[in-house]
Amino acid sequence: MEVKTSLLDNMIGVGDMVLLEPLSEDSFLENLKNRFDHNEIYTYIGSVVISMNPYRSLPIYTPDKVEEYRNRNFYELSPHVYALADEAYRSLRDQDKDQCILITGESGAGKTEASKLVMSYVAAVCGKGQEVNKVKEQLLQSNPVLEAFGNAKTVRNDNSSRFGKYMDIEFDFKGDPLGGVVSNYLLEKSRVVKQPRGERNFHIFYQLLSGASDDTLKKLKLDRDFSKYNYLSLDSAAVSGLDDAANFRTVRNAMQIVGFMTDEVQSVLELVAAVLKLGNIEFKPESRCNGMDESRVKDKNDLKEMCELLGIEQAVLERAFSYRTVEAKMEKVSTTLNVSQAYYARDALAKNLYSRLFSWLVTRINESIRAGTKARHKVMGVLDIYGFEIFEDNSFEQFIINYCNEKLQQIFIELTLREEQEEYVREGIEWTNIEYFNNAVICDLIENNQNGILAMLDEECLRPGTVTDETFLDKLNTVCAEHQHFESRLSKNSKFLNDHSLPHTCFRIQHYAGKVLYRAEGFVDKNNDLLYRDLSQAMYKANHSLIKQLFPEGSPSKVNLKRPPTAGFQFKASVGTLMRNLQTKNPNYIRCVKPNDKKAAHIFTESLVRHQVHYLGLMENVRVRRAGYAFRQPYEPCLERYKMLCKKTWPHWRGPAREGVEVLMEDLQVPAEEFSYGRSKIFIRNPRTLFFLEERRRQCLQDLATLIQKIYRGWKCRSHFLLLKKSQIVVAAWYRRYAQQKKYQKIKSATTVVQSYTRGWQARKLLRELKYQKRCEEAVTTIAAYWHGTQARMELRRLKQDVRNKHAVTVIWAFWQGTKARRELRQLKEAARNKHAVSVIWAGWQGTKVRREYRKFFRANAGKKIYDFTIQRIMQKYFLGLKSNMPSMSPTDKNWPDRPYLFLDGVHTELRRIFHHWRCKKYRSQFTEEKKAVYEEKLEASELFKDKKALYPSSVSQPFKGDYLEISKNPKYQKLNSSVDEKVLLADVVNKINRANGKGSARLFLLTKKSVVLADHKTGQIKASVPLPELASVSVSSQTDGFFALKLKEGSASAVKGDFLLSSEHLIEIITKLHRIGAKAADREQLNLDISDEFLVQFKQDKVCVKFIQGSPKNGNSASCKRKNNRLLEVSVPTSP
Ligand SMILES: Nc1ncnc2c1ncn2[C@@H]1O[C@H](COP(=O)(O)OP(=O)(O)OP(=O)(O)O)[C@@H](O)[C@H]1O
Ligand SMILES: [Mg+2]
Repeated sequence: MEVKTSLLDNMIGVGDMVLLEPLSEDSFLENLKNRFDHNEIYTYIGSVVISMNPYRSLPIYTPDKVEEYRNRNFYELSPHVYALADEAYRSLRDQDKDQCILITGESGAGKTEASKLVMSYVAAVCGKGQEVNKVKEQLLQSNPVLEAFGNAKTVRNDNSSRFGKYMDIEFDFKGDPLGGVVSNYLLEKSRVVKQPRGERNFHIFYQLLSGASDDTLKKLKLDRDFSKYNYLSLDSAAVSGLDDAANFRTVRNAMQIVGFMTDEVQSVLELVAAVLKLGNIEFKPESRCNGMDESRVKDKNDLKEMCELLGIEQAVLERAFSYRTVEAKMEKVSTTLNVSQAYYARDALAKNLYSRLFSWLVTRINESIRAGTKARHKVMGVLDIYGFEIFEDNSFEQFIINYCNEKLQQIFIELTLREEQEEYVREGIEWTNIEYFNNAVICDLIENNQNGILAMLDEECLRPGTVTDETFLDKLNTVCAEHQHFESRLSKNSKFLNDHSLPHTCFRIQHYAGKVLYRAEGFVDKNNDLLYRDLSQAMYKANHSLIKQLFPEGSPSKVNLKRPPTAGFQFKASVGTLMRNLQTKNPNYIRCVKPNDKKAAHIFTESLVRHQVHYLGLMENVRVRRAGYAFRQPYEPCLERYKMLCKKTWPHWRGPAREGVEVLMEDLQVPAEEFSYGRSKIFIRNPRTLFFLEERRRQCLQDLATLIQKIYRGWKCRSHFLLLKKSQIVVAAWYRRYAQQKKYQKIKSATTVVQSYTRGWQARKLLRELKYQKRCEEAVTTIAAYWHGTQARMELRRLKQDVRNKHAVTVIWAFWQGTKARRELRQLKEAARNKHAVSVIWAGWQGTKVRREYRKFFRANAGKKIYDFTIQRIMQKYFLGLKSNMPSMSPTDKNWPDRPYLFLDGVHTELRRIFHHWRCKKYRSQFTEEKKAVYEEKLEASELFKDKKALYPSSVSQPFKGDYLEISKNPKYQKLNSSVDEKVLLADVVNKINRANGKGSARLFLLTKKSVVLADHKTGQIKASVPLPELASVSVSSQTDGFFALKLKEGSASAVKGDFLLSSEHLIEIITKLHRIGAKAADREQLNLDISDEFLVQFKQDKVCVKFIQGSPKNGNSASCKRKNNRLLEVSVPTSP
């Protein structure tokens, strides 16, 4: 994309008319044409944009173009409406100045398009975001809705705005749109009921019928055919290049985006349909008896349908079309309406319905797009008002429209021409006045409160009596006749008496943009804007919320007899407010110029353009611009804005602002002819100088921004650094604290350790010392002890030595003596030996001599002698040895020395036996008689039973007690004892074995020297007494039992009862005693003892065999006796262990 950097680059003609040379109307037009022919439709006059309508779409509104113009200086690029929009937006955003964009030009010049371009540009460059985009979208989409309802095709423009629109777009401090407010000015409502030839009704009617679905139309009771509706002009219903159906969809979509509810859209369409239906209601006259005509609805179908649509009672509306109630003070007068009055009422209702619907739409849109916050807004106003228009037939509406344009021109003149020139004078700038046409006089003609046309009209309307358009015109003719811009045939100004172009019913005004002929007809009516109260009441009664809202005055509670303000009055007031509003804002002008009347591209009708250039005052505009200064600014803001360009003024200028600016200009070396110093402002002649300043400022700002950025970054980094440092210090402090704490703890624990070690060491040292001390003490003690010991030992040794010495002396003496003695002994022995030897030798010699001599005799008995001698010697030695090795005197001592020689065996044994007997005799000799008797008994028992009866060994250790019953002492046996005359040797309890069953019964057994007595165990009564001589033998078994049988001698007295089979624990003693008595008694032979395991016992007549068998120790250790049969008693003896 080629980006221009200057307005002068590739310029076609002159982009800024200020630079046009030479300046004349022709060259001006030539330049415009030249540029127009090259598709350059925009040209500047300073900051004013002239826009030529190209009547075709040009590729200059693309997003790329938006980007190109974004944030660029006004004169930097070729002229464009975007440059103006950007300038306005930026000064709103950056300099906090409320802006207004005043778009002027006649109808079809492109105002509405320009306003949309401005809005779309601002929407494209301002902030983004979901909420902001929604606001933008709503603001932009309000246009199609308002255009559909407020625009119509006219002969001048296919999309002519039939209302004035001023939209305030509100921005926040960042330049993001917050919302907006739309103000509408006087809709040309007469168009609803009647359109001039070649024109159409408002777009929405055609759009609805073309674009709505069949279903919707059915609901609205409409027909797609335009021709069925009286209010729709038929000849220009279809407009080429206008797709009503598509536009209808666009409008519905836009309504949805703006925030209309579905039922609201439906209500709106119902109202539009109702207007169409209303147009179809026709009236017929009906004569009344009083001769007056009364109107009646011709075909009630449309009325019915309309009433159904709006929920109105048909009769109520019908009556409202036939009657009119006039309320005056307390009276109510009802008059009938004739047909034309009925039509008038119908049309008035249709116009009111539509215009109120339009106003409601504006209000509803405002509700949606209103800025949410109450914070201070920056405002950009876009004024797109109907353009100046001259029709064939101009009525009240054109008068109003042109009045409005007149006011706008006034504002333009005020601000750009008059104000500017006055300012030069005020500021003391050298200035030659430039003449221009000031339309204030025309404005005064229209709006003057005393004799202005609008005041006259109002006066006429409010005047009692018959008021017609003619009376109004008369009034004008009287009051305004002298006014130079007012023309009328009937005015006193005779100038126009013969002007046939001026009909009698008309008046003409010389507007700034040309003369316009107004037909007075309808002025009064339209100004009155009357709607019969019956109709508004009927509307209020409708069962339709929107209709009800639109006709609040129909409410019975709001009966207001005061006339509502007239349309002219209202318009004047709202225009006045608008003008005041505009004057508070920084104006930006777009002056739209229409190139031709044919709505065609590429055609430049010079006369038409010349006329517009003329009445728009563009030439004067250029002249003032050229002679004057392109830019001015009070010193303070100027210095404030550019002070950064000079070191002396930056950052602060202490002196007066003007001096500061002077220093600044000097420093910047701006040529003196390029600027002038006013009293309070500096005036810069050429925009280039301003560009230069701005460019320098921009660069400087970049540097400053860099500087600020640098400082800010530095500050940020420094703060960050300081924060880090601070944090680091804190962290370090904490860490150090922590580390020191750790270290301290470590040192502390180390100290504790060291301390403990040291203390330990010291303690140990101390302990060691103490121990050492103790040891020393001990050592000392020990040493002392040792010393003393040593001393003592030494002493002892010494003493011992002394003793030893003494002893030694003694010993030595003894030894000496011994030695002497031994020596002497030896000597004596030697002598004795020698003597002996001599004797031996002598004896030997003698023996030898003898033996030699007696050898012949000696040999026969020498052997026997030697033998005897030897034997003698051996025996001697044996006895002497035996004597010295004699065993002890205990009879039980089995020791006896060994025999030395085998041949002494017999002697040795015999000596042993003798010694034992002697020893026993010696032992016995110590015994008493009783003891002896006992031993004798024991001996006898041994003789009797040893190795014969197994019971014997157990009895050896038992002493023989004899009287076990202690019969002599026990009183129980006293009687028994006394009945026995002999001394009882043995008394014991025995068991007498019953032969019948082998069981034993206890009996007392007494043994005397003479008899054996058996007595009852309990009573002691003697059962049997057997004299011992009658006892033949005693039989016992060889086993451990205590059974014994006392066998009686056959034939003895005792034998009658038979033998006794008894058992006793003291069997050995009893038998031994029995045996001894026998042995002792001389008169009796010794009792026979029969030891056998089977013996016979005589029981009375029978002999019974008692047999002893080895049995199991079932009954403990005692033997048990069992009778086996008559002849056999079996005694089972437990096996001895
Ligand atoms: N910049 C443009 N580019 C293309 N066509 C344009 C441009 N401006 C205007 N037109 C055409 O001219 C027509 C009339 O323009 P526009 O409706 O803006 O006129 P206007 O000044 O608002 O008239 P009125 O006063 O009747 O409302 C538009 O419908 C459009 O076709
Ligand atoms: Mg318009």
